[in-house]
Amino acid sequence: WKMENFRAKEIARIRALVGPNDQVLGGVSGGVDSSVAAAVMKEAIGDRFHAILIDNGVMRLNECEQVKETLGEHLGINLTVVNGGELFLSRLKGVTDPEKKRKIIGKTFIDLFQEEAIRIEKEAEAKPDVGPVKYLLQGTLYPDVIESVSYKGPAATIKTHHNVGGLPDTLNLRLIEPLREMFKDEVRAFGRELGIHHDVLMRHPFPGPGLAIRILGEVTPERVELSRRADHIFISEIRAAGIYDDISQAYVAISQDRAVGVQGDARVYGFIAILRAVVTSDFMSATPYEFDWKLIKKISTRILNEVDGITRVTYDMTSKPPGTIEME
Ligand code: XMP
Repeated sequence: WKMENFRAKEIARIRALVGPNDQVLGGVSGGVDSSVAAAVMKEAIGDRFHAILIDNGVMRLNECEQVKETLGEHLGINLTVVNGGELFLSRLKGVTDPEKKRKIIGKTFIDLFQEEAIRIEKEAEAKPDVGPVKYLLQGTLYPDVIESVSYKGPAATIKTHHNVGGLPDTLNLRLIEPLREMFKDEVRAFGRELGIHHDVLMRHPFPGPGLAIRILGEVTPERVELSRRADHIFISEIRAAGIYDDISQAYVAISQDRAVGVQGDARVYGFIAILRAVVTSDFMSATPYEFDWKLIKKISTRILNEVDGITRVTYDMTSKPPGTIEME
């Protein structure tokens, strides 16, 4: 297929599928996938598409505000922000297993979505000219679909992608996944076709479970804060060096282990920050980005000087495979 045809066909397909008054809900994160999916939906059905940003308490520094600006203000998408931070963090308290963390986040996400669907449904009932909420939009990509399939029995499942697959019966919505057959580079091309800004399209992907799968072990408010601040320094330096678009994904993970350091005259015992930056075209395989040594030293110094509570900085040299891009 060709991109121009795909756009027209996808909009026609959405309009044919969604009844003339039906409402559609969709979770957005500010990432490329959900933004492109939301933009095509807005183009197809206007304000009958309700975008919902769930603040899960593990988003990056200033991320909610940025999403409001890019999707709400620039693209004019009908956007609601749900503040779920406390609920997510309370359900994650004491949980260390990566799969459990992902499942809790996926379930909480669905719970809040359901509440939001009911709220919008009730509002719709009050207006005679507006139809019911019938569909859920998801920006699922082809690689997510493949990786979620267990091809050698359950033990071979790579990991659970919380945004793929069946929704619980309690959520009475049908799925619409306009990007299900696309790889990342194709989604970016589609976004350009839809007129989405370069910075949004080139933004590195950020996983649904957010910083929770980059904070190894238990997610505590203290380590969420460390992760946010260190990540912000890393990404700002990458942008300032003009290499953001050369890297496919970069972030700072926070280890559960601690190490001793010296601050002024005092001995401090803090967490280890792990920098990860990879290059990939399809996210199915990836190699570590080869940093200029001076830059990585500068980043390390800044994190150690500016983020109290981090005493070591390391760089993750693992390719995918055998590693994955995320830590958990
Ligand atoms: P992995 O870690 O599997 O990551 O090599 C491949 C790509 O997928 C992203 N990723 C996720 N995205 N929900 C998402 O929306 C998830 O649960 C999830 N897990 C991984 C990851 O950031 C990378 O871009």
